[in-house]
Amino acid sequence: MVKIRVPATSANMGAGFDTLGIALNLYNRIEVEEISSGLDIRVLNTADYIPLDERNLIYRAMLVVFKEVRYKPRGLRIVQNSEIPMTRGLGSSSACIIGGMLAANVIAGHPLPYSRIIELAAKMEGHPDNVGPALFGGFCVSLMADERTIVHSTKIRPHIKCAVMIPDYFVATRKSREVLPDSVPFRDAVFNISHASILQAALISGDVSQLRIGVQDRLHQPYRRNCIDGFDEIFERTYSAGSLGTYLSGSGPTVLSFLDGNYSSFKAEMENFFTKNSHKWTCKILDIDNVGAVVSETKR
Ligand code: HSE
Repeated sequence: MVKIRVPATSANMGAGFDTLGIALNLYNRIEVEEISSGLDIRVLNTADYIPLDERNLIYRAMLVVFKEVRYKPRGLRIVQNSEIPMTRGLGSSSACIIGGMLAANVIAGHPLPYSRIIELAAKMEGHPDNVGPALFGGFCVSLMADERTIVHSTKIRPHIKCAVMIPDYFVATRKSREVLPDSVPFRDAVFNISHASILQAALISGDVSQLRIGVQDRLHQPYRRNCIDGFDEIFERTYSAGSLGTYLSGSGPTVLSFLDGNYSSFKAEMENFFTKNSHKWTCKILDIDNVGAVVSETKR
């Protein structure tokens, strides 16, 4: 039996479209076991629809690894227990992909290094900014070039926390990518390079005063803001409640604010704002997960 715990992730981080991501302490816990035959998939504690057959994402990710290493399992039992809300911009699909690939790699006898697993995972997901932190934890800078995927992970100081504000509706990444332009003005490209670079420097050095400027972005948030009801007002309110930097998490609709202290007053203020404005959003204060995916194996 293989047990895997994979963290939620928040990608883009404002200026770092398809490049920057961070792991958070909400988890998908997956147990996988090779059985004598068949496919037995169980999903615990979720109201979300998850297919229990060959369309299941964890299973499909396992098949990618089995194909790569030419391993044929007799049968598989997969049990998933996830705290990560689906299609909300918190990396639920990346957690399934990383969990499935790590489980398959253990079952096949550890043939693949993590450097290959991250390449397969980024290819399956289509971008590396969620799978990177899901596997390695912390704050990740990533790049896909030809067959290669490069991920650098850095641990972030524990006093920096993330408030995630999650609405009761979802936005599919595929749809949210359709609203993006095919090209952008040169000055917008330069704007994003400089802001993403400042964000990295600020997070790594712990200079939280520069997070607010570092999350500014011209590549995706201006195009996606219409998918989120009350976008500008919510962003403004996070700053008046003490956010150090607020951005649309991944392709949304979750909004994330960095905090250093005043965690509970921020949460109370935002919940009060959501209630008053009839927005059905929840606010959770999360730690940055500096560990990444954790694998434990028990022999039967
Ligand atoms: N970088 C991806 C996007 C993240 O913005 O489409 C999706 O979670």
